[in-house]
Amino acid sequence: MAGRITLTMIKPGAVKNEHIGHILTMISEAGFRISAMKFAQLRRSQAEAFYKVHKDKTFFNALIEYMISGPLVAAILEKDNAVKDYRELIGATDPTKADNGTIRKLFAESVQKNAVHGSDSDTNAQIEANFFFSTSERFTEDGYILL
Ligand code: CMP
Repeated sequence: MAGRITLTMIKPGAVKNEHIGHILTMISEAGFRISAMKFAQLRRSQAEAFYKVHKDKTFFNALIEYMISGPLVAAILEKDNAVKDYRELIGATDPTKADNGTIRKLFAESVQKNAVHGSDSDTNAQIEANFFFSTSERFTEDGYILL
């Protein structure tokens, strides 16, 4: 069975360009519940750890510089088929290839500054959620801490 959570980051460029509100509205209107959310500014070592699968890519250093360039918003989103449905909502990594109406089509500046991150698998969603949030920072609809 597909997992019920995915991890998103509203990346520094989208925060700087004041797209947080619009992006969160799109997330809510698509039926996701936000069970955890915070502002964070990543240290270089944290950004490198988060994106370690890309460490041999040509764009790795530029990606890290971008991701530590300012605050981002991290959130755990909850919904049936969260990973797949969120990837549909955000669109392709390269915004020139993203469908009309997707978050990246609307707000990305480039393939690197692509507005948002979304987990690519249920396993990575768990790893990435644990990267940003302790159990005491996750909440049910009734406001109880998710243990
Ligand atoms: P994200 O979904 O966060 O996962 C990896 C990130 O690497 C991706 O979004 C982009 O920000 C970046 N990325 C992926 N492909 C490229 C590329 N070809 N050139 C520059 N950055 C890229």
